[in-house]
Amino acid sequence: MGAKKRMKLEKLAETASKIDSFLSTRLSGEPKDLYHAASYLIDHGGKRLRPYMVIKSCQLLGGTTKQAIPAAAAIEMVHNFTLVHDDIMDNDEVRHGVPTVHMRFGMPIGILAGDLLFSRAFETISKPYLHKSEDVGLNLVATLAKACTEVCEGQTLDISMAKSSKIPSESQYIKMIEKKTSSLFVASCAMGAISAEKNFSDVVRLSTFGRNLGIAFQIIDDLIGVIGDPKITKKPVGNDIREGKKSLPILMAIKKADNQERKVILNAFGNSSVSKSEVAKAISIISSLGIENAIKQKATYHSNAAKKSISIYNGPAKNELLSLLDFVVQRSL
Ligand code: IPE
Ligand code: IPE
Ligand code: MG
Ligand code: MG
Repeated sequence: MGAKKRMKLEKLAETASKIDSFLSTRLSGEPKDLYHAASYLIDHGGKRLRPYMVIKSCQLLGGTTKQAIPAAAAIEMVHNFTLVHDDIMDNDEVRHGVPTVHMRFGMPIGILAGDLLFSRAFETISKPYLHKSEDVGLNLVATLAKACTEVCEGQTLDISMAKSSKIPSESQYIKMIEKKTSSLFVASCAMGAISAEKNFSDVVRLSTFGRNLGIAFQIIDDLIGVIGDPKITKKPVGNDIREGKKSLPILMAIKKADNQERKVILNAFGNSSVSKSEVAKAISIISSLGIENAIKQKATYHSNAAKKSISIYNGPAKNELLSLLDFVVQRSL
């Protein structure tokens, strides 16, 4: 790993430890099994990208870390809620190198753990503003609620695209990831700005930053999901292929492959009973097609758009947000 990337992860870790101690106070209670299941993924890893974005967006506008902590913790709870339920929807058995929550605790507790993370998030952002006249708390709640609605819409698109035999266009794919992934990135930046008690125009600029960062993030995530190193990502590769996920690397690979290669890819694609070696064959063909650069270019395009949207700001938090863009495009985990 290069020095630049290492530096970035350390930066993330600095804010992560603050968030983690706040989160542990918000995620303890009885029955133990429920709270254990709700904090299980958080305890076993995660990059804490979204809370970092909340804090840096707040600092960018002159706000303090303390102001941003409730929203930062809330977005991480909502994010983990989406992961727990996403692993149920995607039939995934491993995340962060450990069994997924529904595998470890069973389906009913898995569903409830997600629900608990969701509701605790809203309790957490509204609590500091109860019985106060300012509308900051209400704005935070409205922003996070809208993002959650969009995640549901995006997840439905993701699943219906996977079920369909049609190959979607690239713009349909982008629309889907804007909803399932970017919406929480938008909410992170917007909630950072709202916590700093800044103007609507700041919220809009930071939301644009979050939307483009989220798109770049998911494009790279989908690349890693197909050709990433499971030792680094701590989640298995090949599941997107088995589940028939219409991710950008797959769309590009199907377009670029010759007839013979396409046959091997399509044989594994969306085929739940395909053997490991057939999935491996499809992955090795996808890796050999040279789509990696084209995908990184698409991610860079959105990273540049994100950069532009915060061009009017200055200061250390801006530089940290810009290096987050580089990290997201260059990352391998
Ligand atoms: C995973 O997000 C879910 C997607 C939107 C692809 P992260 O990579 O940010 O999840 P962590 O770091 O494991 O929490
Ligand atoms: C990411 O889903 C979006 C949400 C969790 C809402 P994916 O299914 O693409 O991400 P991974 O690969 O499980 O992390
Ligand atoms: Mg998934
Ligand atoms: Mg999914």
